Amino acid sequence: MSSFTLSTEIRFGKDALDSLAQYAGRRAFVVTDSFLATTDVFATLVRILGPHVTVFDQVLPNPTIALIGQGLAQYLQARPEVVVAYGGGSPIDAAKAMHKGALEAGLAAPEGLVVVPTTSGSGSEVTGFSVITDEATHAKIPMVSPDLLPKVAVLDARAVVGVPPRTTADSGMDVITHATEAYVATTASDFTDACAEKAAQLAFAHLTRCFTHGDDLEARTRMHSASTLAAIAFDNAGLGIVHSLAHALGGRFPVAHGRLNAILLPHVIAYNAERSEHAAAKYAWLGHLAGSSATGTRAGVVSCVARINKINAELGIGPGIKECGVDPADVRPHLDELARTAMADGCTATNPVVPTHTDLVALLRQIL
Ligand SMILES: [Fe+2]
Repeated sequence: MSSFTLSTEIRFGKDALDSLAQYAGRRAFVVTDSFLATTDVFATLVRILGPHVTVFDQVLPNPTIALIGQGLAQYLQARPEVVVAYGGGSPIDAAKAMHKGALEAGLAAPEGLVVVPTTSGSGSEVTGFSVITDEATHAKIPMVSPDLLPKVAVLDARAVVGVPPRTTADSGMDVITHATEAYVATTASDFTDACAEKAAQLAFAHLTRCFTHGDDLEARTRMHSASTLAAIAFDNAGLGIVHSLAHALGGRFPVAHGRLNAILLPHVIAYNAERSEHAAAKYAWLGHLAGSSATGTRAGVVSCVARINKINAELGIGPGIKECGVDPADVRPHLDELARTAMADGCTATNPVVPTHTDLVALLRQIL
């Protein structure tokens, strides 16, 4: 038996943010970062929520255990009726961890956690994951629990129009990678495939427009939908070795997660397609969704890889680790250890092909 779960209410479309007026006048605890707290859209959010808002705007990238403790203390003091996360992956993950802490203390906001994502990328607004960093060891602690699933996700393009092009590119390629990996994952189903196909189709069609014309609300709206759809797919189907390798590399070299995915994805598609007919046929279909008229599986896979390479080029990404600002000579001594870390990563289990250590080293060499 398999199952497909979606427990988050998704609010979307023009002025979706205004729906938070349902909480107006209630005690609200809002989690964000110090930059976002100065933006016009954030001011609108606070105005909609009304006079009883407590703002915690101290979230930094890679939120730590200490930061969660600090936020939780303020959360408990504020005794909120609703918690609102406003931001990209870090403020959302931080708010999820604080809310879980409050749940465990029996003092959680009764209206639950509402998430307003300000990037189209992580998909954290619909997943039961949160990643917190142990400041003592620098280790990332992945938390997985139904308690971390937001009650409401608000997809309002006004929250993403101000995202700079580089972040739009990186987070957008993360979306394409989520959709692609979930689509060929060993635990993919008709339900996750429906979400992954639509996510890929929307992202192929709209990502570069978001990059070149950040204020295009229509393109931003479609890309925001793609991000959430891709996350629904991977939350249920899992991911693959693009993410395993990106996690390993990202733990050692300071390169954006989506950028690492972007440069690895074409190589992993070629690797998987050579060894799995089933995966190859699905990649070929993604090529078709990207606009290719190629016939036959092999030509379809080639068109899928070509489309991704073209999008990367249009976004100014890649093709290798050198273009990410990392000297390949600094990576070479760590290939063995990086491959071991990637092999142990949770995402490897659902890759359509079971890789060997040698395969993972070879894939890493390709981006050097
Ligand atoms: Fe990702």
